[in-house]
Amino acid sequence: MNTPCDMLVFGGTGDLALHKLLPALYHLHRDGRLAPDMRILAVARNVLTRSAYQALAERRCRAQVARHDFDNDTWASFAARLDYFAMDASQSAEFGRLAKFLDAGTCQRGRIYYLATAPNLFEPIAENLAIARLAGDNTRIVLEKPIGHSLESAQEINAAIGAVFSEAQVFRIDHYLGKETVQNLMALRFANALFEPIWRAGHIDHVQISVNETLGVENRGAYYDHAGAMRDMVQNHLLQLLCLVAMEAPVRFDAEAVRNEKVKILEALKPISGLDVQDKTVRGTYAAGKIGGQEVPAYYFEKQVDNDSDTETFVALQVEVDNWRWAGVPFYLRTGKRMAKKSSEIVIQFKPVPHRLFEVSQANRLVIRLQPEERISLQLMGKTPGKGMRLTPMELDLNLAQVFPQKRRWDAYERLLLDVIEGDSTLFMRRDEVEAAWAWVDPILKGWLEYYQNPRPYPAGTDGPEQAQSLLELQGRFWQD
Ligand code: BG6
Repeated sequence: MNTPCDMLVFGGTGDLALHKLLPALYHLHRDGRLAPDMRILAVARNVLTRSAYQALAERRCRAQVARHDFDNDTWASFAARLDYFAMDASQSAEFGRLAKFLDAGTCQRGRIYYLATAPNLFEPIAENLAIARLAGDNTRIVLEKPIGHSLESAQEINAAIGAVFSEAQVFRIDHYLGKETVQNLMALRFANALFEPIWRAGHIDHVQISVNETLGVENRGAYYDHAGAMRDMVQNHLLQLLCLVAMEAPVRFDAEAVRNEKVKILEALKPISGLDVQDKTVRGTYAAGKIGGQEVPAYYFEKQVDNDSDTETFVALQVEVDNWRWAGVPFYLRTGKRMAKKSSEIVIQFKPVPHRLFEVSQANRLVIRLQPEERISLQLMGKTPGKGMRLTPMELDLNLAQVFPQKRRWDAYERLLLDVIEGDSTLFMRRDEVEAAWAWVDPILKGWLEYYQNPRPYPAGTDGPEQAQSLLELQGRFWQD
């Protein structure tokens, strides 16, 4: 933005704002990356004074930010940017009050509206911003995923937002795209000649993308029970990772070129519909169990979750990308809450050598690990020292924390918020991308309603339902853990 800008965070007292956005903004402020006069206005329904909000934000930021990164003076200068405005964002009359509040001295400033709210508020907020003349050229809007809960609702939201903001002003955030290793995946693929010739069906046996969490639904039961793992994780984070693994090299590294290639992959996903859901998908819901030695309740007994809920907290899928490069290569996707350990990784399993000279057991695999640590490891077979030709799996291991020990790891939101401020939408989802992802997900959700019984239970602290193991085992494969 050329003119000075402010950021308004709708949903300012919510978990996302307090847990992720403010700590990210605090870090950007501390590192001198925010314009000195940029103001941050949290907007929410709770009636709070500015100082009460600042105190709440300080408590939450202290808990989030590493101790050595937090200091009182920096907080005081950050808090000076922070203001609070209480309003009900579903009420159009309230936007007149907001406009008056903003106009006090700031009418020429650029504005970023961050909608950290439920998606059903996206449309009314955009419309009301327009009515109150708060949505000019010098504004941007950031939408949190999930954008809607189906293709139809996503189209409605996109149309309503598009009626007020041009596509270049809209930033649909998927924080997985802000993760360092996710971007490194593009560097790995497109800055190294080594991988490209073998990055295809003839050489790759299959791909696994797993995002496993030990967390349950925490305080988000009300939202999650209407979403489930498919809408919360697969429609966005996992499909975005799949796109980055599978896409062709973009002609340039810019927003349009990168997103054009991702859309092509989403459009090439082979539909899973009707009875296919029984063979190619597994749904699960966690039962009571133990995480880190602590007893945790079953999903049905979580706060704000319906006791009769049939929402899934785990999904495994077998997906095909129906194009020239990937024909016949299965992509196995898996995500779940309350799993044995937190880990997000992409595994590229190469085909075995065509002629066996030695006793070889697996390896031949590239593992891109996003969490908990960021590393890329090429797992190869090598010779065990000593007499004879005994082979052992070995790793060429690139641990990013060791390669760049002096660099603080940026949180995904830091990078993405800075991109919004700078107007770079390369790492954000374009309208057609979101809709293409829903167009593929919708038939699965429909198939589940028609042909699938309740999700399979799995004890908290395990690797998900047994059926997820069989999904691979029946094809002579297994999940890499
Ligand atoms: C969010 C989901 O988008 O991603 C959460 O709504 C999930 O349910 C979270 O816990 C996982 O993000 P991360 O960065 O911790 O892997």
